[in-house]
This record gives sequence, C-alpha cells and structure tokens, in this order.
Amino acid sequence: MPAEIIDGKRIAAEIRAEVANRVSRLNMSPGLGTIIVGNRTDSATYVRMKHKACEECGLVSFHHPLPEDVEQKTVIELIQKLNADERVHGILVQLPLPKQCNEEQVLGAVDINKDVDGFHPVNIGRLAMKNREPMHVPCTPKGCIELLKRSNVQIHGKEAVILGRSNIVGLPISLLLLKNNATVTICHSGTPDMAAQTKKADIVVAAIGSAAMVKKDWIKPGAVLIDVGINSVPDETSKRGYRLVGDIDTKACEEVAGMITPVPGGVGPMTIAMLLQNCVTAAERTVE
Ligand code: GUN
Repeated sequence: MPAEIIDGKRIAAEIRAEVANRVSRLNMSPGLGTIIVGNRTDSATYVRMKHKACEECGLVSFHHPLPEDVEQKTVIELIQKLNADERVHGILVQLPLPKQCNEEQVLGAVDINKDVDGFHPVNIGRLAMKNREPMHVPCTPKGCIELLKRSNVQIHGKEAVILGRSNIVGLPISLLLLKNNATVTICHSGTPDMAAQTKKADIVVAAIGSAAMVKKDWIKPGAVLIDVGINSVPDETSKRGYRLVGDIDTKACEEVAGMITPVPGGVGPMTIAMLLQNCVTAAERTVE
C-alpha cells in the first residue's frame, strides 16, 4: 500500500483558521515587526508571504527593510525600538544576514517574549534543557511536530533520525523530538553512513538541502517521512524551467513509507502558520 500523504496545506489552513479565531477574541490586533537586510529575492518573497498571511488572519505587520551595507548597530537599534513598541508583539529578523552583521548578537537583541522565531539563545537554551520551556519554539520545527501530532503519529518511544543540524531546522527539531520522548539521532556531513541510521528510524526528518537524496532503500517499511527540503531542479516541461523537490525521493519512498509529506504542500505552509500562532500567543500573554 502506498504511503499516506500528510497534507500540510490543509493542516496549515486549519491552524490559520484557529489563529484568526483567537485574534477575533482579542481587543487588539497582534502585531508582527519584520526586519529584512539587503536585497535577497528569496528573503523578500518569504517576508512578503508572512505579511500577507498576517493580513488574512487579522494581525498587523510592520515592515522594516534595511540596506545591504547597514551597520549592525543600526539593526540592533531598530530591534530595541521594536522591543519597546507596544503595537509589536512579535519580531522577526529574516535570515541570512549580510556578513557585517553578527547573527548571534543581532538575534540576541530581540526581547525573548517577542522572539516569535524562537532563535534567541535563551529560548534555544531552554528548548535544549529538561524541565525548561522557551517563550517560543522555531517555526519550521514546530510545524513538523504539529504535522506529526495532527496526523496521529506517536512520537514517544520512537526512533527519530534527523538529517541536518542547522540552527534553523535540524538542531531545534532534534531538541523538540527529544522533548517529546523520541530516541533521537542527528546525521550530518560527518556521518559516514546515513542510510544505516535512517533504516532503523520510525520517523525521518530530512533537512539537509540536497535534492531527492533520501532513497527508497534507506527507509524502514511503514516509517513516517517529514521532508523539510526545498530544492529547485531544472525541468524543461515546466513553464518556469524548474520545479521544486524535497530532500526525499518521494515517488520511490512512497512505496515503502507509512506516511510522507509532499514538496511543495507539506512542511512549507506550516512554517508561516506557526509564525502566526507564536505571534498571537505573544499578544495573548500581554493581556493575560
Ligand atoms: N530564513 C530561512 N528560514 C527562516 C526562518 O524560519 N526565519 C527567519 N527569520 N529567517 C529564515
């Protein structure tokens, strides 16, 4: 039997409706402040999508584009201004930053209560520790857990193998799976035999940025596969000349897996839904 497809688009729409409902019960509009440094088209697209999603769910957003060559001091001053602004409940600094900006120092300047990306070192530290809870959890990893939970996948006691150890996805998803009592293995560029690891996994999260790298014979029958990868590959049959594929060879792996997320339409839509959720939570906390 082919794998069940986990419909991230549908689940994200469900969450957005929940967010809109929570917003309608507040006596104010939750506000998201975004900062983008430079002219990367991918970053501009992501931030535009975040603003559109805010508008659709009743949140207000304040956009702060800064030039590519801006001094770090100016970025931090803007963050401090947003920290003090009562209309702003969440702050998002789009990554990556240009080289003159130290990512750790910039992200460390965000008020942990407004850190809706969950990237502040205190929030990541709390995520890593037993019996501690961060103010917010990073959006893509949180979206992966939400996909598992809303698809009734048990995490407790399962073998989870994560491919990738990035600060944005691989590391925090590992910590979250650990918090949910999975037995966690992290694979990375120094892992000699990734397939040997994934073959024992009940849950595989692929966040390694390599098109269709995970093959059918890497997968244990019935495993749940979460594909975080978004890779563009040339495709002459497409009008755009390319198509998006994940880190998993979906077509082939569908034959052995129990469940699988598609690309696009799997994890992608969840990231923005989780950002909205974090932002409305931050706003609710200010009136509790
Ligand atoms: N760049 C790539 N992913 C993300 C994300 O989730 N948040 C931010 N702020 N920047 C990113």
